Amino acid sequence: MGKYSEHHSRSPVAVIGGGIIGLATAWQLAKRGADVSLFERHTTGRGASWVAAGMLAPLSEVGFEDEDFLRIGRESLSLYPRFLDELKKDSDSEVVLDTRGTLMIGLDRDDAERLRRLHVFREQLGLPVKWLSGTEAREIEPLISPRTSSAIWIPDDHQVNNQALVDALKIAFEKCGGTLYENRPVSAIQTDNGRATGVLNDDGDVKATSVIVAAGCWSRKLNGIPKELLPPVRPVKGQIITLRSDGTYELSHVVRAPDAYLLPKGDGRVLLGASEEEMGFDTTITAGPIYKLLERGWEAVPSIYDLEVEKIEAGLRPGSRDHDPIVGETSIEGLYYATGHYRHGILLAPITAYEMSGLILDGRSSELFAPFKPGRFVPPGKQSAVS
Ligand code: FAD
Ligand code: GLY
Repeated sequence: MGKYSEHHSRSPVAVIGGGIIGLATAWQLAKRGADVSLFERHTTGRGASWVAAGMLAPLSEVGFEDEDFLRIGRESLSLYPRFLDELKKDSDSEVVLDTRGTLMIGLDRDDAERLRRLHVFREQLGLPVKWLSGTEAREIEPLISPRTSSAIWIPDDHQVNNQALVDALKIAFEKCGGTLYENRPVSAIQTDNGRATGVLNDDGDVKATSVIVAAGCWSRKLNGIPKELLPPVRPVKGQIITLRSDGTYELSHVVRAPDAYLLPKGDGRVLLGASEEEMGFDTTITAGPIYKLLERGWEAVPSIYDLEVEKIEAGLRPGSRDHDPIVGETSIEGLYYATGHYRHGILLAPITAYEMSGLILDGRSSELFAPFKPGRFVPPGKQSAVS
């Protein structure tokens, strides 16, 4: 990896992709005085970041032996209040953090055994989680199934309205002086003598001293640099159902059941998600995964049976080869990646945005991101194969 490129605050920065990661990063850079252009091929914030459920759930989502993710996830969650405060000042719109907590529930003996392992792992790490009987779980969330046999109570896993968030980020970015180009797909990264010099789109080339690829699961589709240097991300399809509650009864917490989760969004929507499918760039809504979600969701919270189905959507998560994010400078000077956030991009937006702005404007990188550098995927001997 080359040393961090020297950056003067008014040197132009080009951001490719206006999802939550590109928007949050571009906003933080513009806020600190950088000359930032953001290129979005359609409308900002309408990719995976729109379809997402909005859970901020490092304690529920940490996998066994995945403590690097846990560290950035918890840190990012702790940054959320500051991030939303800054956003309110810069956008004049309030995005509320829903801190009512999360219940992971089990419905039979098999689930209980699985939950027990998850609980033991979290307890060994000293995480604030509590084992509950089915009765105790129903006291916290009366709408869960009477079959609930056991649960883990995770008060510190929160949620946010991700759609309001991306809309506010767009406003904040422009108010802070950033230049937004919507309906402007970037086709290539431009380089000269081993350094990034700008991007190419339909209007021609745009010069930039720093180029940030934040194009979600499409990040690998860019031309201009050798394929082996592009970030290894693929689309991981997620289908999700929006139910509409008539307000007579509503869930109060995020409920995570085996193979389905339910989120009351505080505005009458109840999200029921999500499938995880390897289907390439296909976003067709299909019967099988939707049938399974409805069945698993209904088993967990039977009263959803009567709710209106408002819509069903599919989004494409940017999954990297090891399912961890890819964040930092590449071996091409001035070229940065902020992608591969997979199932956690809403959670990881604040920490990614602060990391990227610190990296580009101050040459400062946090130790927390050491495991997530782009160079981990590049084959030996190919670190700077660009002219
Ligand atoms: P995207 O939001 O996909 O944005 C990428 C943008 O780049 C798009 O707007 C696209 O149009 C643009 N683009 C692509 N190519 C180009 C180009 N060549 N030029 C210009 N623009 C380009 N995460 C959580 O933390 N919590 C959750 O609860 C959660 N739930 C989810 C539920 C579902 C069903 C799904 C699908 C995902 C969920 N995620 C969740 C994951 C989260 O949505 C993603 O990790 C996150 O949105 C990734 O953000 P992004 O900005 O990288 O990608
Ligand atoms: N993090 C939830 C999802 O990706 O479905």
